[in-house]
Amino acid sequence: MVLALSATAVASISPRDALLIRSVAPVVRDVSSSPPLLANISKLPRTVEVNLTAGLTTLILQPGVNSEVFAYNGHVPGPTLDVREGDRVIVHFKNELPEPTTVHWHGIHLPFESDGSPFHPIKSGESHTYEFTVRPGTAGTYWYHPHPDRRTGFAIGKGLFGAIVVHAAHDPLPASISEKLLILSDNRFLKDGTIDFPDAVSQHGGIDEENGREGPVLFVNGRVMPSISIRSGEVQRWRIINASAGRIFRIALAGQTMTQIGTDGGLFEKPVEVQEVLLTTGERAELLVRGGARGTRTVLQNLPYDRYSPNTRPADWKVTRELLTLETSNAPPAAAVTIPPTLRTIEALDTTRATAVRTVVFGQGIINGKTMDMSRVDVSTHVGATEIWDIVNIVGMDHPFHLHGFQFQVIDRDGVREPYVAWKDMLNIPKHSTARIIVRYDDYPGKWMFHCHILDHEDHGMMGVLEVLK
Ligand code: C2O
Ligand code: CU
Ligand code: CU
Repeated sequence: MVLALSATAVASISPRDALLIRSVAPVVRDVSSSPPLLANISKLPRTVEVNLTAGLTTLILQPGVNSEVFAYNGHVPGPTLDVREGDRVIVHFKNELPEPTTVHWHGIHLPFESDGSPFHPIKSGESHTYEFTVRPGTAGTYWYHPHPDRRTGFAIGKGLFGAIVVHAAHDPLPASISEKLLILSDNRFLKDGTIDFPDAVSQHGGIDEENGREGPVLFVNGRVMPSISIRSGEVQRWRIINASAGRIFRIALAGQTMTQIGTDGGLFEKPVEVQEVLLTTGERAELLVRGGARGTRTVLQNLPYDRYSPNTRPADWKVTRELLTLETSNAPPAAAVTIPPTLRTIEALDTTRATAVRTVVFGQGIINGKTMDMSRVDVSTHVGATEIWDIVNIVGMDHPFHLHGFQFQVIDRDGVREPYVAWKDMLNIPKHSTARIIVRYDDYPGKWMFHCHILDHEDHGMMGVLEVLK
């Protein structure tokens, strides 16, 4: 409650005060409810050209204290890359951080050279231009973040993450539905506002390494307990991204159901009514949310979810937390909208056409018994191949699987057939469980990472290299 009040206090600083504060040194964090958009500097049609700089700055993240952060264009979260299917995207990136970095376009199907994986580091002080074309049929919610060798968790924890929204050429949802972007993250601070990264050899550092670093302060778009206003009967489309290092969110709107319409790689074929959504690290969901009775409010909650092994499970894991308030205004009810029963068709990849079946065994911090070696190729294949990956988690902790470059479809989980077809790049593999996915490498030769998206695990080598040959 105290946190919520001080967040409001920051939000209500007048522009003049903000200028005064700015000149004293610390910059007041952007107070709008969603991050700004990256400005398009291109005059060409179907081209989005933007400038993106990663640098050091001081912002108020946890209400009431200044923190030294890493930020994209001075913002945490970074500005949103807003594009359409078919657009040519050109990003002029500058690294003003004191360390090497990359920009990885999580979930986007693009050439290897633009993937921003650890194979293409950008040194401190250097610049690089990323270029790719957004493929038709890939409209959805994605995100960008650094992916330097062994430092991804640190760089994201310091504030480097931003959303990518790819709009469809023809969106099936009525244009009257307004969209909200919700980037979920968490963080942990020392009393003076310093972002807390304990020494790796300390007890807390050891627990972070085991669990994946979590923090008690939960953010939506970099704000603690913000609110969203909705009209009675209004339907809003929420694009939600889990940008945290280790926290798996299990979200629910107290007292009402939601309609899930999409996941990592865009819309489902049909809307699905849900009570809650499990969002593993790096995963996205698109939801339709309805306004309640006039003048009422509800809360977006994070319900307890036990992803941990018993020896390092946090004492407060069972506590339900609040993320944001949804306030239904007193305005007259919104006109009813009709949600189409079919959103699109998705071609199901044919399992009988698979050219290989791979087994990927997740141990604690290792894949198939090994840690990451960038000079090794773990899986070698070729453009055009369709493969089934059998992912087996043999340990007592969840590990979220991620593949670069290619979206996949889930075939089954623990032998239970997936109820619907969807494009995904993130899949939580719960403790002692298995899942089978199918993927087709339909373009772009190169070396692609596959890894656990608990960033501490990834940084400590829970990652492999998939080489797709021409
Ligand atoms: Cu979101 Cu390899 O990363
Ligand atoms: Cu990725
Ligand atoms: Cu893991």
